[in-house]
Amino acid sequence: MTRLIFLGPPGAGKGTQAQKVAEICGIPHISTGEILRNEVAQSTPLGIQAKSYQEKGELVPDGLILDMVSHRLSESDAQPGWILDGFPRNVTQAKFLDELLEKLAQKCDRVINLEVPDEIIVDRLLKRGRPDDIEEVIRRRLEVYREQTAPLIDYYSQRQLLVSVQGNQSMAEVTSDLEKSVNLNC
Ligand code: AP5
Repeated sequence: MTRLIFLGPPGAGKGTQAQKVAEICGIPHISTGEILRNEVAQSTPLGIQAKSYQEKGELVPDGLILDMVSHRLSESDAQPGWILDGFPRNVTQAKFLDELLEKLAQKCDRVINLEVPDEIIVDRLLKRGRPDDIEEVIRRRLEVYREQTAPLIDYYSQRQLLVSVQGNQSMAEVTSDLEKSVNLNC
């Protein structure tokens, strides 16, 4: 069983590395940002509500996210394991996840904290050019990360789940460090 959470600022490489590990282990890569972008593209009621938050670099309200994650983690393909990318994003979401995993009789194995300096992040994201990759919005995403998500580093460190990996090296080197630091168990 492999159940991992990827934590880190925008552009740290969470999606890139989460996808690789998901392929290695044959388990779903669950990105809340990606799920929301699909909802926005299809103009579903959730997407219509989420759009303005994503465009501004603000977190979508917890009320819209928690049911979505609860539903996704209960699906059959997620029973053998999962990689969470972009969730939890604040302490409320982390506590919700703890309760949900208890109900599902599951445990998170590790939380991988990808560390990358701000200026590298801005450069990476400006080159990628997603709709929320404009400098003003990237800077706001970084602020929101520091204010709301960074406290999860302590939260998971206290629970002895945190593993930090240097994200400012080649993608292959990050994957290699990750495989050395986490027993993928798959
Ligand atoms: P989300 O989609 O989660 O975006 P993010 O956290 O801002 O992260 P990114 O996807 O930009 O970066 P990443 O760390 O995944 O890096 P990636 O691998 O893509 O969230 C977007 C929005 O959705 C939020 O702002 C919020 O509105 C909403 N949202 C999502 N989840 C939510 C939640 N739980 N609660 C509330 N709201 C939520 O790489 C980035 C770029 O860098 C790519 O071009 C990649 O090719 C490149 N790259 C990656 N690794 C390297 C490397 N080692 N060297 C060089 N380039 C690299």
